[in-house]
Amino acid sequence: MTTVFPEVEVEPLRGGATLRWGVIGPGEIANDFTATLHAHSDQRVVAVGSRSPERAAAFAARHGVPGVHGSYEALVADPTVDVVYVASPHPQHLEHALLAIAAGKHVLVEKPMTTSAADTRTLATAARQAGVFAMEALWTRYLPGTTVVARLLADGVLGDVHLVTVDVGWPHEPDPTDRMFDPAAGGGALLDAGVYGHWFARFATGAPVTSRTTGVVSDRGVDLQSVTVSTADGGAQSVVTTSMTAWTPGLAVIAGSRATVRWTDHFVFPASFALHRGRDVDHWADPSGLHGREGLVWQAAALARYVADGHTESPLHTLDDSIGLATSLDAARAALEPGPGPAAPGVSGHVTSTP
Ligand SMILES: NC(=O)c1ccc[n+]([C@@H]2O[C@H](COP(=O)([O-])OP(=O)(O)OC[C@H]3O[C@@H](n4cnc5c(N)ncnc54)[C@H](OP(=O)(O)O)[C@@H]3O)[C@@H](O)[C@H]2O)c1
Repeated sequence: MTTVFPEVEVEPLRGGATLRWGVIGPGEIANDFTATLHAHSDQRVVAVGSRSPERAAAFAARHGVPGVHGSYEALVADPTVDVVYVASPHPQHLEHALLAIAAGKHVLVEKPMTTSAADTRTLATAARQAGVFAMEALWTRYLPGTTVVARLLADGVLGDVHLVTVDVGWPHEPDPTDRMFDPAAGGGALLDAGVYGHWFARFATGAPVTSRTTGVVSDRGVDLQSVTVSTADGGAQSVVTTSMTAWTPGLAVIAGSRATVRWTDHFVFPASFALHRGRDVDHWADPSGLHGREGLVWQAAALARYVADGHTESPLHTLDDSIGLATSLDAARAALEPGPGPAAPGVSGHVTSTP
C-alpha cells in the first residue's frame, strides 16, 4: 500500500505576510534565528537590543541590522519594530516579554516561555490584556513534517493513539559556570531539551491526567536526566526521556490502532518519518532543503501570518498550551526535588555529584 501523504500546511517563506523584528538578547539562538530569517524568508530583523552597546553593534554588523540599541528598553521603544523576539535565558523571559508587551509590541518568546506555569500565566494575562500577539517559540510545531503528522492525527489515519515514546537529550560538559548546571539560571534538562519531549507527548496524546517522573539530579539541584510516564484523558500513554548528560537520537514514535508514525531522524529539526501499517511502510521526507536550526524560520512566517489575520495567539500552540506545557514541566521538576526522608521509588530523583 502506498500512502498519499497530506500536503504540508506552512506559511510560504517568501511572498507571504511579513513583520519587522526586534531581538532582545543577541546570543546563540538569536544569531541562528536572524541568520535563517534573512537567508530563507522575507522576514527582517530591523533592530537589536543588548545590555551592551558593543554586543548590539557586533550583532547588527554581522546580520546587516539597521537598529542598534544598548538597552532592552530602547529596543522595545523603537517604532520600526513590530514584534520582539525574546532570546534571553529562560529566567529572564518573563521580565523581557512584559517589557515588550507594555510597549505594545507583539512577542515571540524562546522556549520555555518562562520557568513556571505561574509565570507563563502572568505573561499570557499581560498579552491578552494588552491585545498583542504572544507565542512561545515552539518552532518544531511549525515544521513541514510536524504539520503533516498533525494532519494524519486529525484525519484519524493513525486510528486511536495508544502509546507515544520520545527522547531528547544533548550532553553538556560538566561545568559549574555553565547556566545549564546552575539552578538560579534555569539549569537542567527539563527546561532545555525536555521542553520538546513534553510538548511532543501533549501534541500526540493531549494533556496528561496522571504523570510519574524519576530521574537523576545534580547535587546543586538541577535535573540531569529524567523519564516521565504519563496517561492522557482517554488512556493514551507516553514515555518522555530527557537528558543533559547523554545524546539521544530523538526518534519519536506515535503508535495508533491503525498505523504508527516513527521519526527516522531527530524530530526536533526538519525531519523525515515513516508511516507503518503492519509490514507496509511508507516514507515521508522533508522537501524544504532546510536543516537543523534553519527550521526556526517557519515559526516566524507563521507568526507574521497570524498577526496579519488578526490573531493574538497561535492556533497551533496557544497560550493555554504553553501554560499546560509549563505545568507538565513543573510537575516533572517537583517530582525530582529531594524531599525529607527516604525517596519513594519512582517518584524522587537520585542525587549525583556531577556539578
Ligand atoms: N529554539 C532553539 O532551538 C533554542 C536553542 C538554544 C537556546 N534556546 C533558548 O533560547 C534562550 C537563550 O539561549 P542561548 O543559548 O541563545 O543563550 P545565550 O547564548 O547565553 O544568549 C542569551 C543572551 O541573553 C542576554 N541576556 C540577558 N540577560 C541575561 C542574563 N541574566 N544572563 C545571560 N545572558 C543574558 C545576553 O545578551 P546581552 O547581554 O548582549 O543582551 C545573552 O547573549 C534560552 O531560553 C534557550 O532555552 C532555544
